[in-house]
Amino acid sequence: MKFFADTAEIAEIRELAATGLLDGVTTNPSLIHKSGRDFIEVVREIAAVCPGPISAEVVALDYDTMMSEAEILRKIAKNIAIKVPLTPDGLKACKALTGDGTMVNVTLCFSAAQALLAAKAGASFISPFVGRHDDVGFDGMQLIADIRMIYDNYDFATEILVASVRHPIHVVEAAKLGADVMTAPPKIIHQLFKHPLTDAGIAGFLKDWQATGQKIG
Ligand code: E4P
Repeated sequence: MKFFADTAEIAEIRELAATGLLDGVTTNPSLIHKSGRDFIEVVREIAAVCPGPISAEVVALDYDTMMSEAEILRKIAKNIAIKVPLTPDGLKACKALTGDGTMVNVTLCFSAAQALLAAKAGASFISPFVGRHDDVGFDGMQLIADIRMIYDNYDFATEILVASVRHPIHVVEAAKLGADVMTAPPKIIHQLFKHPLTDAGIAGFLKDWQATGQKIG
């Protein structure tokens, strides 16, 4: 399973990239707003730190303007994935951009039917938002299971990118279902390392090691 960081904070991305576990980054207009930085500038910096796909979202709702925005965004770096919303114009743009060799991440997916349309439009990634789906009383993970089944039935190459991840269990459940990618805020990726028995085990071993009076090297 690939790990993407869902953030526009360059320091957090650098830190995760240094672990060797970071495969890509997703941004969205809200994350850019939170960063307080210039969109193009911050995406350029991210793309230089992480060689994997970096999602940059168009904000237009009509096809022609989406394509003009995508043209600017894809010129930022070779590893940019254009993020488009799951609308008729968004999928039209998806078809045109992927046909031209550009990666496309179709975002704001909340149903298996939408995911099927995105795959037919040639999306590189489909982003089902599991956390937001759970928030309104649906089962985000059932959505992932349904999309996995449909994509496998027809050998669609579109990668399932589990988004709106809220806690480590979302990551584990998505992996069990065979999702290709998950994107999570850095805080959640750091939480994946944590287990109280690991901390207790380290403390116990260190205490006993110090009692031996030995050193390595
Ligand atoms: C994905 O690409 C989105 O940026 C993100 O996962 C949305 O998550 P949220 O529901 O926590 O805003």
